Amino acid sequence: METLYHEFERILVTEEQIQERVKQLAARISEDYAGMGSIVLIGILKGSFMFTADLARHLTIPHYIDFMALSSYGHSAVSGAVRILLDLRADIYKKHVLIIEDIVDSGNTIDYLYTVLKTRKPASIKTCVLTQKEGKAVETHIDYLGFKIPDVWVVGYGLDFAERHRTWPFIAELKRSAYIQD
Ligand code: IMP
Ligand code: MG
Repeated sequence: METLYHEFERILVTEEQIQERVKQLAARISEDYAGMGSIVLIGILKGSFMFTADLARHLTIPHYIDFMALSSYGHSAVSGAVRILLDLRADIYKKHVLIIEDIVDSGNTIDYLYTVLKTRKPASIKTCVLTQKEGKAVETHIDYLGFKIPDVWVVGYGLDFAERHRTWPFIAELKRSAYIQD
């Protein structure tokens, strides 16, 4: 029988480390936005569904939740053009917006999103990103970052490989043999 946790090389960020960091980020965000009214959290599906839910429940400021789904043309390794699969329900005009993303690799996705949402004239836009691959996309605009991770394929806590392993409570490096045929 297949076990639930297999196909990973090593755990990079444990469940405890994630939960601790999420609390810290929520505290900082709550402090930074205190007195500014309600903010709109925009979770980017599917990857940030867990992060968005966990972060939101630790915020002490008023907030709304909305979601967008994006897809990059082509497949994983080469990040290129991005397209919107599901757009926001609500108008963000004059609202304080916080984009919540699972991971920044090349930075294409978050940069595209930032540019698109800016045209809708929100009061402000910031980004909260759970993980960023070391040495990549150093110019990308990230306001709140959870963890820097090595430049390998990671799964768990929302992140997938071909839709698998998304619901693991930790972040792990996928076995190379699972995605590279040597
Ligand atoms: P970017 O546009 O190159 O920054 O890539 C960002 C998107 O690619 C993320 O939103 C993820 O959906 C996906 N991605 C990049 N690296 C990984 C990974 O290691 N695991 C899972 N998804 C990833
Ligand atoms: Mg994503």
